[in-house]
Amino acid sequence: MAFLPDVAARLLRLLPPETANRLSIRALALWPRSTGSDASLDDPILATRVFGLDFPNPLGLAAGYDKSAEVFGPALRLGFGFVEVGSLTPLPQEGNPKPRLFRLARDEAVINRMGFNNDGLAAARARLARRSSGAARGIVGANLGKNKDSADAAADYAAGVAALAPLADYLVINVSSPNTAGLRALQGRAALETLLAAVRGARSGERPPLLLKIAPDLSEADKQDIAQVALAGGLDGLIVSNTTIARPPGLHGAARNETGGLSGRPLFQPSTAVLGDMYRLTGGKLPLIGVGGIFSGDDAYAKIRAGASLLQLYTALIYGGPGLVQKIKTDLARRLRADGFSNLGEAVGADHRGNNP
Ligand code: FNR
Repeated sequence: MAFLPDVAARLLRLLPPETANRLSIRALALWPRSTGSDASLDDPILATRVFGLDFPNPLGLAAGYDKSAEVFGPALRLGFGFVEVGSLTPLPQEGNPKPRLFRLARDEAVINRMGFNNDGLAAARARLARRSSGAARGIVGANLGKNKDSADAAADYAAGVAALAPLADYLVINVSSPNTAGLRALQGRAALETLLAAVRGARSGERPPLLLKIAPDLSEADKQDIAQVALAGGLDGLIVSNTTIARPPGLHGAARNETGGLSGRPLFQPSTAVLGDMYRLTGGKLPLIGVGGIFSGDDAYAKIRAGASLLQLYTALIYGGPGLVQKIKTDLARRLRADGFSNLGEAVGADHRGNNP
């Protein structure tokens, strides 16, 4: 069942993008607890165990929608197998001046330069602490960023890890947003090793799992370095990918030359190519979350075959409405069965083996 009716999603698209975004969050926050889908009703072929966590289905809500951890509960009831809140910075911050979010409707794409607007770690911590306990509460990850004016990036990420490690099911070090100056340089080998040493020390043990979210615009050398650092024990997984600073040819939207990160359909091909690269470079040994331009069950299936153990989406919700979540899950299950797979895990990276079971 669609949680927020898809008609409402269509009406929201008539409003300026950021107003629509805030309204949809308000509507979700008000929605009754009893409404929505039950993950235990998911097709069992979609169930998967990754990072030691049991996901009822592999489709998650990507970071950037619930930036301040306001609506992760209702978002889970849309049928997502998990929700990632953030990016969260130590201190609250306003983000960039508006307008900073642009629809490219004909391209089914969005350009954003939000700049980590969020309520900060303390507010998110208080909201996450109110989560119900037990398996029914669903899987919630927290994505971490750095404050714009912070001089010490590693200290910001370490503060995020220390604050949210007890409350989140996994943590993400986001070094790939194009909208904070200098952030993406943290993907280079030396900077990354220093950063990961600092954040690993901020956890009290091996939990929760620590992931790195990377850009789709990396050089070959960057990708190799990240794979090596990750395999050397620095990370439990990678999220591939964030938005792109590239502007693929053929974009129609009048806003196509706005500064910021491009997401949605034009990101599908480049982000899936990087996903395949990272699967190959890590020998399939590291769980990958595939994100970028997923609009259909076919897109989801292609990401799994390219090497994703889990999936996320955001932009498709803006164009397709929340009913899309159920449809993607149903179509993905059908595709898996049609190719003879008995569970999702068997299909992960199938393209690299060049066959079906
Ligand atoms: C994002 N994304 C994002 N990612 C992140 O790690 N931290 C963030 O704060 C945000 N913020 C954000 C805001 C908006 C408006 C958009 C559209 C996206 C990136 C997002 O999580 C995802 O990686 C990309 O959008 C690609 O997926 P889709 O949107 O093509 O499915």
